[in-house]
Amino acid sequence: MKQAYSFDDVLLVPKFSDIESRFSVKIGNDLDENIHLDLPVISSPMDTITESDMALAMAGAGGLGVVHRYNTVQEQASIVSDAFFKYGDIKIAAAVGMTDFDDRSHALISVGTQIICIDVAHGHHVMMERCIKTLKDKFGDRVHLMAGNVATLEGFDALASWGADSVRVGIGGGSICSTRLVTGHGIPTFQSIVNCAQTNYDVKIIADGGIKTAGGIVKALAAGADFVMIGSMLAGTKETPGEVFSGKSGKKYKVYRGMASSAAQTAWRGRASTPEGISTTVPFRGGVKNLLQDIAGGIRSGLSYSGARNLEELRGKASFVLQTTAGQMESSTHVLGRGK
Ligand code: XMP
Repeated sequence: MKQAYSFDDVLLVPKFSDIESRFSVKIGNDLDENIHLDLPVISSPMDTITESDMALAMAGAGGLGVVHRYNTVQEQASIVSDAFFKYGDIKIAAAVGMTDFDDRSHALISVGTQIICIDVAHGHHVMMERCIKTLKDKFGDRVHLMAGNVATLEGFDALASWGADSVRVGIGGGSICSTRLVTGHGIPTFQSIVNCAQTNYDVKIIADGGIKTAGGIVKALAAGADFVMIGSMLAGTKETPGEVFSGKSGKKYKVYRGMASSAAQTAWRGRASTPEGISTTVPFRGGVKNLLQDIAGGIRSGLSYSGARNLEELRGKASFVLQTTAGQMESSTHVLGRGK
């Protein structure tokens, strides 16, 4: 049986650096030959993460938001078109499902969406092949097709060979996921990235699920991801959809929920069956702008510890070590006697 490692199992080895300012480091990447992101971070297509406010904030920070699909075609198209009017020429992606992809993509592309995300829990699937091929036939290279999710190199190569331009990599690793508990399936996301990075296809890797810190983002990029997708790191911010409410102590919260959770399924289709996610509350964290600046700062700093001026150099120079449980404890803050 093969061993599979998770983000917390590994650390990047610090390397000689001649980088004098972390602002001389470039952390942007090309999604394809026409689309460049200055920040390699994408927000998840979830109904408690990305609608127009988050999509605008992500675009403003140089990243990308993927507007979720858990609404009617008209609602989703108007979220996207509202954002384009407000700000004109910005990059916004929007998700479609396996059964509604035809109607949704037409509506989304007609309001100006350049990036369609075929958003499925188990993307290495015959229906995905049909979906990618149909959309490629219809829209060709006019539209960037992001597809997923997959956990294996075989899955990645299949979606790439069917025509995907980028592939979301990671199954069951999300903070709100219970897929591995319910189905027994999945691979730690870090290992999936390492495996998928062996592909010979020129298709972008989007690491998705289980990334908790800027350091985790750096590990994902160093292991071979071109971009990361995050949900929980953005949850609770002002720009996420949903109300702010007060707990008993007066502290403010928002909801963050998996799209296969009972609550999310009931909200979008009126019934729930076999949940593979949970719904939870997270502290309200104010606007997302500062958070995204901190994330960008952490990635820049990470590159400078590896002596890398861009993501390609990071990948070339990166070497990982495994850490023991004691090492993991040392790697998180651990002030002696704190709180006593
Ligand atoms: P993080 O860890 O960033 O993960 O919060 C976000 C990613 O989790 C996936 N996702 C789910 N996976 N059940 C799952 O197994 C769910 O209900 C669920 N909802 C979201 C998705 O890939 C997202 O980007």
